[in-house]
Amino acid sequence: MTEANTQPEVNIGLVGHVDHGKTTLVQALSGSWTDQHSEEMKRGISIRLGYADATFRRCPGVDEPECYTTDEECADGSTSEVLRTVSFVDAPGHETLMATMLSGASIMDGAVLVVSATEDVPQAQTEEHLMALDLIGINNIVIAQNKVDLVDRDRAVDNYEQIQEFVDGTVAEDAPIVPVSAGQEVNLDLLIQAIEEEIPTPDRDPDESARMYAARSFDINRPGATASELKGGVVGGSLVDGQLEVGDGLEIRPGRQVEEEGQTEWRPLETSVRSLQAGSQQVDIARPGGLLGVGTGLDPSLTKGDALAGQVAGEPGTLPPTRHEFEMQVDLLDRVVGKEDDESGESDIEEITTGEPLMLTVGTATTVGAVTSARDGECEVRLKRPVCAEAGAQIAINRRVGARWRLIGVGTLS
Ligand code: GTP
Repeated sequence: MTEANTQPEVNIGLVGHVDHGKTTLVQALSGSWTDQHSEEMKRGISIRLGYADATFRRCPGVDEPECYTTDEECADGSTSEVLRTVSFVDAPGHETLMATMLSGASIMDGAVLVVSATEDVPQAQTEEHLMALDLIGINNIVIAQNKVDLVDRDRAVDNYEQIQEFVDGTVAEDAPIVPVSAGQEVNLDLLIQAIEEEIPTPDRDPDESARMYAARSFDINRPGATASELKGGVVGGSLVDGQLEVGDGLEIRPGRQVEEEGQTEWRPLETSVRSLQAGSQQVDIARPGGLLGVGTGLDPSLTKGDALAGQVAGEPGTLPPTRHEFEMQVDLLDRVVGKEDDESGESDIEEITTGEPLMLTVGTATTVGAVTSARDGECEVRLKRPVCAEAGAQIAINRRVGARWRLIGVGTLS
């Protein structure tokens, strides 16, 4: 198999309510692929936004859908052909991790919405995640109706109809609904077929300037490493445009906060690409798709503990500006989605008002901003932590409702 075949080329989000089986499904589809990340990277990355790569294959001479598999060997003893490698971004379903789900959404090319057949539809985060996909404009969706091994036929059919009714009029209206059991590995061939048909690899131009959204950053040195053993800081994230090559210059924005003469400012970091880990292998050139670990020449104290998560990296001089405040066009939802019946707080969404705090997700960055002026359909915010973003960028807007932040709409940076 060539390197080009194994480097993931598309990011597929796994979204849905807590415990509906996202992680089990990713394991079932990617299980045979042992991850060869360095231990630090593997542990670090799979805890927050989990990425797992799966190579989809096809058995020649076998009818659809049975021909779709992740196994190298086919039932008739022949060897399967590689279709493509995909990277699953496993977004946490727990309600308090919605911000992580939203920052993952910025790097998803499509999504699998996992809905358990054992519960009524929709559960709170099923609704909230679908709304987030809709707002952020992720249109290529497959619905996995999971855990069908735990229900009888009538219940499975009822639940299927509930899903159909729930997605009617949403971005997932035409999405195929595939009954599966991630636990028992049933119908995974049908699910792979649906993903192949519904979530194509986006057309990308390798000549565009490299643009990477950082989701994590690390210091991979063991405590006590000597100066000569020290490795530069590692930035983990996804390329959304262009390609990166070992030796390329790299700028990271907003960079780091420096204090000088009582003034605080953010300075971009400049370094170079020392190594690249795409999926589970070291490569010389990385393209969009999957998780990329970029070894840099940065002082590891700058990358330690996700210090650069949410930042943007790319060719020096090509990155969007660092913004401490911005104006955005606002498109609010009609009502708060994903709220449990016993939760406090208003269900209708009121206009944004001057002075209120908002939690904003821009790319992979999440920051809190205070509204400095609000007019019909527009508002200006001053951020606690600056972001690197260009005009036209989409912003997920969250407001505190009751005890937690709720998605209330989407903004477009003016
Ligand atoms: P979060 O990451 O916490 O949002 O949960 P999740 O959606 O990733 O769910 P997870 O994969 O952890 O599954 C939750 C539980 O359901 C686990 O105990 C799984 O073993 C079980 N489970 C998942 N899929 C199936 C299935 O198809 N059949 C059965 N019987 N159990 C399943």
